Order: sequence, then C-alpha cells, then structure tokens
Amino acid sequence: MTRARGTGLAARLFLAQVLVAVAGAATLWLVASAVGPTIFHDHLRRVAGAVSAQTSLHVEEAFRSASALSITVALLASLTAGLAVSAYVTHRIAVPVGRLAQAARALAAGRFDTRVTIPAIGAEFATLTDSFNAMASRLESIETTRRRLLADLAHEMRTPVATLAGYLEGLEDGVVSVDSATVGVLRAQTARLARLAEDITAVSLAEEHRLDLHLRAVPVDQLVAAAVDGVREGFADKGVGLFAHVGAGLGSVLADPDRIGQVLTNLLGNALRHTPPSGSVTVSARVSGSRDTVELAVSDTGEGIPPSHLPHIFERFYRVDRARDRAHGGSGIGLAIVKALVEAHGGEVSAVSAGPGRGSIFTISLPVSAPEPTP
Ligand SMILES: Nc1ncnc2c1ncn2[C@@H]1O[C@H](COP(=O)(O)OP(=O)(O)OP(=O)(O)O)[C@@H](O)[C@H]1O
Ligand SMILES: [Mg+2]
Repeated sequence: MTRARGTGLAARLFLAQVLVAVAGAATLWLVASAVGPTIFHDHLRRVAGAVSAQTSLHVEEAFRSASALSITVALLASLTAGLAVSAYVTHRIAVPVGRLAQAARALAAGRFDTRVTIPAIGAEFATLTDSFNAMASRLESIETTRRRLLADLAHEMRTPVATLAGYLEGLEDGVVSVDSATVGVLRAQTARLARLAEDITAVSLAEEHRLDLHLRAVPVDQLVAAAVDGVREGFADKGVGLFAHVGAGLGSVLADPDRIGQVLTNLLGNALRHTPPSGSVTVSARVSGSRDTVELAVSDTGEGIPPSHLPHIFERFYRVDRARDRAHGGSGIGLAIVKALVEAHGGEVSAVSAGPGRGSIFTISLPVSAPEPTP
C-alpha cells in the first residue's frame, strides 16, 4: 500500500523560508511602527526645533513610505535568497534521499543486488548509505542461501520419493510383492527422508545459534574415548584400524559433550566410509601453540580429497563424488553440521588432504576450559 505522497521536500523548504521571511518582515514592520515614529520625532525636534503640523505630517508620510519600500525590497530579496537556498538544499539533500527511497523500493520488490552511492554530504548520510548497503548484501546472501537450500533439498528428496512412489505403484499393480526385500527398500527410503529432515533441522538450528548448548568443562580424554567406543564395532566389521592418541595432561575443554560427541561421530563415520579395509583412522588431541584451544584431529589413510574440492566440503549437500557418495547413503550435510556445531562452541574446523589416495585430516579446535581456582 502506498501512502499519499504530499508536498515534496523542495516545496516545504521554500515554504519554511517564506514563513521566516514574512515573519521577519512583519516583526520589522511592527517594531518600526511602534518605536520608529517616536525616535524620528525626537531627532526631528532636536535638529529642526518645533515644526508645523503640515511639515510634520509630510515628513512622517515620507518616513512611512521609506520604511514600507525598504521592508518590501528586503522581503523580496529574502524570498529570492530563500528560493535559491531551497533549490541548492534540494539538490544536495532531496536528490540523494530520493535515490535512497528508490533503492529501498527496489529492495522491497526483491531486487537484492541494489546498492546506493551517495555523494559525501555528511556523516549521517554516510552511515545511512553504509547501513543500507550492508543490509542489502546481507539480504542478498540470505536469499542466495535460501534458494540453494531449497533447490538442494528438492533434489535430495526426489530419489527417495520417486523410489517410494515406484514401489507403491508396483504394489498396486501386483508387480511387486510385500516381502522382506520390499519392506527393506521402503524402510531405507523413509529412513533417508527422516534423516534428511533431522539433519536440516540440526544444521539450521546451529547456524542460527538457536541450539541449547549445555557447556561445561569436559576432560578431552573422556570426549575422545566416548566417541571411539561408539564407533569401534563398525571399524572392526570393516577391518579398519582405529587408534586414539591423547597425550596426558591435556585438561578439559568448554563444550557440550553430546554435541561434540556428535561432531566426532560424524568425522569418524566419514573416515570409516572413505577408508578401505586394512587402512587406519587415528584420533589425536593436542593443546594449540597459544594454549587457549585444544585441537582434535581425525586422520585417515583413505581415499583423500582432491584439492579443488577441499574448500567446499563443509557446505551443505556438497559431495566430492555425488553419485558414489549418495550411493553410500550420505546426503552431504554431515560436515555442515560439524562446522555449525563447532562454531557454535566458538571453535573452528579445517580439513587437509595430500590428494586422492593419500588420506585426509579433519581438525576441530575447542576453547580450553579455565581451571577451577584452587581454594
Ligand atoms: N574422511 C574423508 N575422506 C574422503 N572424503 C571425505 C571424508 N570426509 C568427507 N569427505 C567428502 O566430503 C563430502 C561431504 O561430507 P559430509 O559428511 O558432509 O557428507 P556425507 O558423508 O556424504 O553425507 P552425510 O554426512 O550427510 O551422511 C563427502 O561426500 C565426501 O566426498
Ligand atoms: Mg558424513
């Protein structure tokens, strides 16, 4: 809905100048009429002594018309000056304000690439322009992420939904029978959809900082031992070695043990998936050089990651080999969850790999928990 536009800035400025000039002229006229004649008479008496009534009338008339003339000339001069000032101010202020309003309208209409450049006319305008441009680029990046997320989500859902639809059709037509294989497929596809929904919720909550983190001092060796114990069976089944090297005296980190458990489980799950039998995976921990964080690393001797893919693997739905990784059952959200969870703790994540076939190392850093003061 658009509101009535009303009078423009230039007209309002000019009206204000007219009011000031008229008020000034009226005041001048009143003061001149109230005190002018007395002072004038006084001066006249001192200079010319007593004058006849006719002379006095004549001189007073001359005084009044001189005053009226000068006040009228002054009023016209100030109105001309007012017009010039409003034209100048309009050009300097109303034009940029108009440009900003136009840009705001474009933004409201969904053109998020809109930016404004405004000439240097004061700190307030500079702040306004900077804030507007910052708001526009934030909206633009949110919009890009939203579009990509929706597109990826639709893409991820398509396969399981198509499989489910195909099987249901087959069941209806009697081509497929309800045996354990069919039920297995249906279960796997519904589980995949359910996991997709869970993962998307987890990553959104973490990225929007809406997670309830129960932070406490957790001994590093306990964190690692719990994560390793949880995945030991899977490693043994595949024949991949699993080792933990946690030096003594590492102390504690300030963390939510369940969330960091989830992070380590994700990293260990990836390492297991991408390491062939007889390879190995090692979890190690060390205090950083600055001694304010602990670095936990999960390294494997597996297939490695090509350098061109490394910068993207923490993005949602990113997989190095889309077809193969999806066949493994992954939807490419695991590392996005890892990143969001670690960053919610105030930590950082990184990945390095010497290239295909030469293993990968995923490192997370977590803030060290300050030791309890000794009584
Ligand atoms: N240890 C690893 N070795 C080699 N490649 C890896 C390793 N960890 C992750 N990747 C690559 O990074 C991609 C993204 O990993 P991520 O954990 O986000 O997704 P995913 O494991 O495919 O699916 P999800 O974790 O959602 O089940 C993987 O598809 C894989 O290509
Ligand atoms: Mg994963």
